[in-house]
Amino acid sequence: MEKIAILYGPKGGSTERVAHKIAETLGADRCTLLWVKGLEESDLSGYKYLIFGAPTVGTHNWSDQNDPGDWDLFLTRLHKMNLQGKVCAVYGLGDQVSYSFKFVDDIAVIADTLIENGATLVGKVSAEGYTFDESMAFRDDLFLGLPLDEDNEPGKTPERITRWVEQLKKEFS
Ligand SMILES: Cc1cc2nc3c(=O)[nH]c(=O)nc-3n(C[C@H](O)[C@H](O)[C@H](O)COP(=O)(O)O)c2cc1C
Repeated sequence: MEKIAILYGPKGGSTERVAHKIAETLGADRCTLLWVKGLEESDLSGYKYLIFGAPTVGTHNWSDQNDPGDWDLFLTRLHKMNLQGKVCAVYGLGDQVSYSFKFVDDIAVIADTLIENGATLVGKVSAEGYTFDESMAFRDDLFLGLPLDEDNEPGKTPERITRWVEQLKKEFS
């Protein structure tokens, strides 16, 4: 069975916790966790299947030049990568209550970059069970990846992950 890389950032919060949970659910022996900070294209060369995880934390997002976050740096590199032949999925941390008009927007920023660079995007989910007003990540009646809201609905996270992993097991083929 082919290995799966789970690329996440930042460290130390919900995004990292979820990365571990997804790996555990998919099977730890199948997954390699990679912190996005400092990653290069060559680090991804051995993987056909990639999962990307990020929180949405800005107006647009990863643009603070004075304080570049993990994703600021990695997204610049991701824009230049050739992802032909890769099958990719995205999960995003967000807050439906405080940021109801920008809920998990950064799922879209990542997903669009992946598609532009030749990857096949899988892991889209319906909005059933979420309450939000607007999201860049909601297109044609589906989220472009898995939204998770640890701020308001932590109790729903385990089931959302389990369901998504079942979907990925079918779509990663
Ligand atoms: C400064 C700031 C800005 C945020 N902006 C958004 C936003 O635009 N959309 C959204 O869905 N969540 C937003 N959030 C919520 C975070 O995405 C959420 O708390 C997430 O779980 C943080 O993940 P982490 O613990 O890995 O950093 C914001 C949080 C902070 C602190």
